[in-house]
Amino acid sequence: MLSKRVVLLLAACLVSIAEAALWPAAADSHQSPLTLSRAGAVNQFPDGFMLGAATAAYQIEGGWDADGKGESIWDRMLHEHPEYGTNGDNGDVACDSYHKYAEDVQALKNLSANVYRFSISWPRILPNGDTDVINQAGIDYYNNVINLLLENEIQPLVTMYHWDLPQALQYIGGWPNSILADYFVEYARVLFENFGDRVKFWITFNEPPAIVSGYANQGGAAPSQPAPGIGDYLAAHTLIKAHARVYHMYQEQYKALQQGYVGITLNCDWYEPVTNSTEDVEAAERGIQFMMGHYAHPIYSEEGDYPPVMRQRVDANSAAEGRPRSRLPSFTSEEVAYIRGTSDFFGLNHYSTLLATSGETGSVPSKEHDSGVISYGDDSYPQGSASFVRVIPWGFRKLLNWIAAEYPGYPIIVTENGYPDWGGLDDKNRTSYYTSYLAEMLKAINTDGNNVIGYTAWSLLGNLEWSSGFTIKFGLYQVDFNDTERPRTAKDSVQTISQIYSNKELPIEYFP
Ligand code: NOJ
Repeated sequence: MLSKRVVLLLAACLVSIAEAALWPAAADSHQSPLTLSRAGAVNQFPDGFMLGAATAAYQIEGGWDADGKGESIWDRMLHEHPEYGTNGDNGDVACDSYHKYAEDVQALKNLSANVYRFSISWPRILPNGDTDVINQAGIDYYNNVINLLLENEIQPLVTMYHWDLPQALQYIGGWPNSILADYFVEYARVLFENFGDRVKFWITFNEPPAIVSGYANQGGAAPSQPAPGIGDYLAAHTLIKAHARVYHMYQEQYKALQQGYVGITLNCDWYEPVTNSTEDVEAAERGIQFMMGHYAHPIYSEEGDYPPVMRQRVDANSAAEGRPRSRLPSFTSEEVAYIRGTSDFFGLNHYSTLLATSGETGSVPSKEHDSGVISYGDDSYPQGSASFVRVIPWGFRKLLNWIAAEYPGYPIIVTENGYPDWGGLDDKNRTSYYTSYLAEMLKAINTDGNNVIGYTAWSLLGNLEWSSGFTIKFGLYQVDFNDTERPRTAKDSVQTISQIYSNKELPIEYFP
């Protein structure tokens, strides 16, 4: 049996070996240290490219109240309101990864993954949301996961917040209350202190639009506190400030020793104008600004702050509604400067493409109404089991190019991309989704010259698709939720993906 110290030393060595291989020295000092040279052929991944799969705590762990874990807003919502979910499904047991994480690491190994994106459950670490109680069993669990990954030469890419806020912090209003940034900073500090010696890639938040939708809509996302066009903008404002504070804290207190990277994961569809008319082209651009620019512009743009088009439209609508202030809060100029540039990489979740045109939509007030963008799926493309996924691979390349042009200099990690099916091990549709999307990503890298440095497929395991329950199946591995052992079985797509991952190339036949 290796002592804990030896395991940690081994882990540290593996990280530095992996780092040396992953990141060749930057060509000049203005380049991000996370710059990879494009590959020699369009179908090859650059040297050092991270290839793996992703999950999130509430969707896979189970053990919802095990060993001192606190209650999260998702625990609360789906216990109190099973009707907001599907078939009464919830994350109480899910894939039972709290007990079966070693099988998950084995599944990653079989996939030839060199990176695993997973999230840490805030209430498993801090049951009250605050540092008055630090749950050692929670720390031990993630230490075990991280150490096992490193023993298997798999980089941990860790999301700090994938939607499971401690319920204790919802009692004080949740994210619309700006005090939450203070709590998040202290939670992040606990993570850096306990795991930062081995975790080199941190994502503060996953998909802010989904987080804040819990303060806009009834029933979709926790905590289901509907104040559309108000609560969601306030929550977003807190998230952006919390992200920036954690980034600065890492730079000032941990970077020198831990040598890691901190970013955020934003999600966006590609918005394709319905016609070439100026109105439609502007609507498509506005769709991206309202969905992703809301967060990306303050953090990644040269000028910082909210996108001008958002400022202008929400201010105007608020005034027209007779309000004494804009529903979209403002940053001070010091805050704008403080937030700008607070990411080492751009995490992107991308699934599909929407058609966009301009027009009145959504209730008043709401972000949808403020955007004035009518968007819908193009039904000439095939759809997965979740209605928001239509298989439109070319939109992926367009979006990667849009991000690289709008926010130059930031390496991109594709932190989610995947296909939902209806079940069964024969998943040709998934294989074809992945191969066609990877082909477009490789074109964006090798043909268009964008610095994409990693890709984690959603998802490693079939899991709880939030309020859609277990009916929508994104997993490369099927999990039998009727069996108390929760056995994992590789779907057919695993064979193709693992070959691609181990050869570091996509067979040329997948390029149209
Ligand atoms: C976005 C989320 O991050 C993840 O939790 C979810 O399961 C997938 N997309 C699929 O909807």
